[in-house]
Amino acid sequence: MIDIDTHNDNSGTTHRSDSGEIQVGIEDVFFSLTDGRGVIKASNDVFRRLSGHSWDDLIGSSHKKIRHPDMPAGVFHLIWDRLKAGEPVGAYIKNSSKTGGHFWIMSYFMPLGDGFLSVSCKATSPIFVRIRDIYARLRDAELKQGLSPEASMKALHLELRKLGYRDFASFVADALNAEIMGRSDALGHRASLNLPILAEIREACSEIDALGGEMLHSYKAITVAPTNLQVRASRLGDLGQALASISANFTTLTTEMTAKMNAFSELSQKVLNAVDESRIGMLSKRLIAEAVRDFDAEQVETVGEGESASHRLLRSELAKYGGQPRGSSDVIKQTLHQFDKIVQEVRQLLSGLSVMRTMSQMEAARLVDEDPSIEMIVNDLRAFHDEALSRLDLIFARIQFSEKQLQKLFDIARMIEDGTLTARNEFSFEGAQQDLVA
Ligand SMILES: Cc1cc2nc3c(=O)[nH]c(=O)nc-3n(C[C@H](O)[C@H](O)[C@H](O)COP(=O)(O)O)c2cc1C
Repeated sequence: MIDIDTHNDNSGTTHRSDSGEIQVGIEDVFFSLTDGRGVIKASNDVFRRLSGHSWDDLIGSSHKKIRHPDMPAGVFHLIWDRLKAGEPVGAYIKNSSKTGGHFWIMSYFMPLGDGFLSVSCKATSPIFVRIRDIYARLRDAELKQGLSPEASMKALHLELRKLGYRDFASFVADALNAEIMGRSDALGHRASLNLPILAEIREACSEIDALGGEMLHSYKAITVAPTNLQVRASRLGDLGQALASISANFTTLTTEMTAKMNAFSELSQKVLNAVDESRIGMLSKRLIAEAVRDFDAEQVETVGEGESASHRLLRSELAKYGGQPRGSSDVIKQTLHQFDKIVQEVRQLLSGLSVMRTMSQMEAARLVDEDPSIEMIVNDLRAFHDEALSRLDLIFARIQFSEKQLQKLFDIARMIEDGTLTARNEFSFEGAQQDLVA
């Protein structure tokens, strides 16, 4: 299939390939502002042009006008679910134009004032390609099997889990990152200072989560060992008395550790959520900053009730973010401290085990003729102990690394606050071309 034309040349016309796809320009950022029911109040010209509708057609209508029949109802169900709960959300959207063509975008939707705002850019990343396939399957199931929008939304979550995403927010963070960073690279914008640091923190926290999961798993596998030891010790009567009390202590310790590791896994989820929230905040801010820049430079034709009001709203939204979403960084910081505390506590428990480990080894050697399996159980406990200690060391190193990286984020925020680094540097197009100012 040959493409007749491939891009939007900013001349005010749009170009279509023979597959019907209207090419969105990589530089295009577009937005629409709606009231609380989704009625369009304002938009920019890029969006109007791609839609093929006149301003009169668009303003006062719902986006339903450009809804593409291939879009699963489950995706809109999810978008409205989040928005009505007062939460932002991101999604890939296929829209149709009045002329019968279509275009794909990555959109970020958020509650704004008493309505909603969406900011969008071209969808190009490998994540997008996979999502397109998932959407096709979901839509097929909706149309052929009568899958309800809610069930379709749940099926979307399952499909994303199969791709390795813990939840929808982690998918949105990755998709926004892929689209917005890919776009920045293509346009030669200066890279963000914060985002790569945050990506490293995320990686470290995922490792902490995985290591914590492994520890919990091995605790579960070993919890029967002290009980086994106790049963065997009691069979030996007086001879096994010392071993019986050692194994009772083991049981207490492993139970305490399981509780600690469960708390650890809750913290992992909390820190990962906060990191994703932070990433989404920073990325969406980059897009909004560009929309504001276009407004500032009066490069866009905007129409709608209160053109300047939407400009003001966009600006205030941007200002609200400040240099970076501090709230999530604070949560990350607190959670890392809590991790630290649990690691120290588990270490203490393990050092309690060390004494018992030596004692149980001595007892096992003494009782080897009575019951040779005691030695095997004691060896299992020893292996578990060694493994747990080395995992704790790894976890501790990742926590320290994350704390160091987080400090860099706080330093950047402070520099933005005291003016050493302009806030715009961090997320705006102009910033992309500026250097540090001091
Ligand atoms: C700010 C905002 C932007 C939206 N943008 C689009 C869009 O680009 N394309 C679209 O089909 N729906 C968009 N929607 C969702 C529509 O309101 C609508 O839910 C969707 O077209 C499906 O129609 P239905 O819910 O009546 O089935 C947007 C909603 C909001 C609040």
